[in-house]
This record gives sequence, structure tokens and C-alpha cells, in this order.
Amino acid sequence: MNLYELERELANYYQFQYFEDYCHNGIQVEGKEEVNKVVLSVNINIDVIEFAIKEKADAIIVHHGFFGKSFLSIRGNLRDRVKKLLENDISLIGIHLPMDANYEIGHNRIISNIIELTNLEPFNYGLIGQNEKGFGIVQIMQKIENYLSDRTGIKKGSLKIYNYLNDIPKKVAVISGESYKYFEEAIERNVDLFISGSIAQHIPQIALEEGKAILSIGHYNSEVMGIIALSHLLKERYGLNTKLIFNENDL
Ligand SMILES: [Fe+2]
Repeated sequence: MNLYELERELANYYQFQYFEDYCHNGIQVEGKEEVNKVVLSVNINIDVIEFAIKEKADAIIVHHGFFGKSFLSIRGNLRDRVKKLLENDISLIGIHLPMDANYEIGHNRIISNIIELTNLEPFNYGLIGQNEKGFGIVQIMQKIENYLSDRTGIKKGSLKIYNYLNDIPKKVAVISGESYKYFEEAIERNVDLFISGSIAQHIPQIALEEGKAILSIGHYNSEVMGIIALSHLLKERYGLNTKLIFNENDL
């Protein structure tokens, strides 16, 4: 597949044009024009680039590519990464917020599917849904943990529950990444359980005072979901050869 055609397909599928982002979504480093093999990862780092070189990949697709202003000053660690990509003619494609928000294969949609939420509605770049099946909070945590450990091999035990809700959650918010800052917005939407990628020290006290529950699954864990899903899509829809690399990380 042609690199620019792949970029166009991704831009169209993920609707890049609707997102104000902290990074460029699309080709961040331009490599060879013909793409047959793609490595997918949450993050870009030297391990991932070396894996791609070993695998003879033509492109790497990540959720966290190169961000912000530093992109205009390529030095230090960023230089080492960019140099290694260019020397090996490997493209880097970043898909940030559009991968959180995508309604079919975004991080939050996959998590919502795993725990079988219904009547999904948008919540910032995440989703709010109903727990009609009546799963308990521990059951919900185990479903997500099992999914992760089956696919990425993570060790169990890093997902954290802060439960101040004396009931089965009815309304659930799912929001990946550094999402604790949306907790108060979730309370305004009458959410019982807030599933987030991260937590901050002041958040559990708010949950206690409001009688809510939080399940913090980890920033990395919450954002590996859409990477796995995209790997399937690239295989099935475009016949690309894909390889996933996981850098286990409970933060
Ligand atoms: Fe993120």
C-alpha cells in the first residue's frame, strides 16, 4: 500500500480534521513510499524503532508520537529517535485524540465493549454508557484486566478501585489517558462509576464526598486498546502485515 494512501485512509477513518490536538496526526516522519509491514505501539521509543528495524517494517503507527513545540527543535533524545527512523527509511505515523474518540475502534469504545455498556453517548473524547447487565465494580475490573492480560501479557494487579458507591453502578463513564481532570464533569452527568486512564491524589476524596466509584486502569493500559483494534483493521481491510509491540507499563 502507498504511504500517502494509508495516511489518507487513516485521516478519513479517524476524522483527523475535527480534532484540535497537541501533535500532528498523520505522517510525522516520512519513510519509504511502499508500506507492507507496519509495527503498532502506544509509544514511540528506541526499543520500538529497533523492533521495527528487526521486523523489516516500513512504518510505525503510534498513539503517542512526537508532541508539541519540541518537534521544531530536534535535539537530544528526540534527535536519536528521528535519526534512527530516517536512517532506516521507516515512517512514523501518529494518531492521538482521534484514536481516543473513534466510535468504532477508539480506546474508549473498546473498553465500553469489553464491559458491555449500552446506550453509549459522547463524553468529551470518551463515552458514557449504561451498565444494564448489572456487573459489579470488581467484575468490571476483572473483565478489563483479563482482556489486557490475554492480549498484552500484563501482570495482573495494577488496576485500582476507589469505591465509595454502595450499589451496582448504573451509569459509567469511560475516558482514556490523563483523564482524572474530567471526573467532576462526570459527576455533573450523574455517573456512578468513572473509569479513567489515570488518577491524581485529590480525586479519591471527591469520590468519597460524592459517593462515587473510580476504576483507574492506567494511562498505557487504557490506550493500548485502540492500537490492538487498529492492527486488526489494517490486516482485514488493507491486507497489511502488522506486528504489535507492548512496553508493559502500569502508569
Ligand atoms: Fe495518552
